[in-house]
Amino acid sequence: MSRTERQRFIVGITGASGAIYGVRLVEALLHAGYGVHLVVSDAGWRVLKEELGWDVTRRQLAIEKAFGEQAAYIEYHPIQDIGASIASGSFRVRGMIIMPCSMGTLSSIAHGSSDNLMSRAADVMMKEGRPLVIVPRETPMHAIHLENMLKLANMGVRMVPAMPAFYYHPQTLDDIVNFLVGKVLDCLDVEHQLFTRWGESDELPKRNDE
Ligand SMILES: Cc1cc2nc3c(=O)[nH]c(=O)nc-3n(C[C@H](O)[C@H](O)[C@H](O)COP(=O)(O)O)c2cc1C
Repeated sequence: MSRTERQRFIVGITGASGAIYGVRLVEALLHAGYGVHLVVSDAGWRVLKEELGWDVTRRQLAIEKAFGEQAAYIEYHPIQDIGASIASGSFRVRGMIIMPCSMGTLSSIAHGSSDNLMSRAADVMMKEGRPLVIVPRETPMHAIHLENMLKLANMGVRMVPAMPAFYYHPQTLDDIVNFLVGKVLDCLDVEHQLFTRWGESDELPKRNDE
């Protein structure tokens, strides 16, 4: 199947910590048979280098190296390209996820700035009433961060903070990353098997009196 025949999502990776989340999300969407339109901010590239050791001198090449053959289903858009397909509401996508999302990008979306392709594509999702999922990452948060999140939540944007859960007994970093990516996919009705759901494991949860 060609890239254009697949249903597609936009994935944004910003300069918040947790680049691994964005990369795993792209892998999971490709695995589920979707095409991905990818936007990475300059700070996002910096964090890919710092946290995952990516060689980011040639960006397209870095993507091909990271995703191998599946990179054929990724369309990478430079963040300055405000004339890209995904800048227009007439270009149809299933939705957009920004994972991880910095407080800077969060603010620019909450204020409707549309000052680069990331915030413009997010703005398009909201104006067209399409799903937008944001994974904010910062700690601690001050009132402006929280207000920006509330503004967007009131617009129907799904906020999925990068907060791990421990009730499913994660053993590895992969378990923690997969859980969050799975929660994002749940918001978008994308089937996945990234974690075992509460109540679906063979092992019954222990009661307090046992
Ligand atoms: C290694 C590293 C980690 C960072 N982590 C965060 C973070 O978790 N949250 C955040 O809001 N900013 C973080 N920053 C700062 C942002 O990258 C910075 O504010 C940048 O301007 C955001 O730009 P963007 O929104 O275009 O990606 C981090 C920067 C670096 C270099």
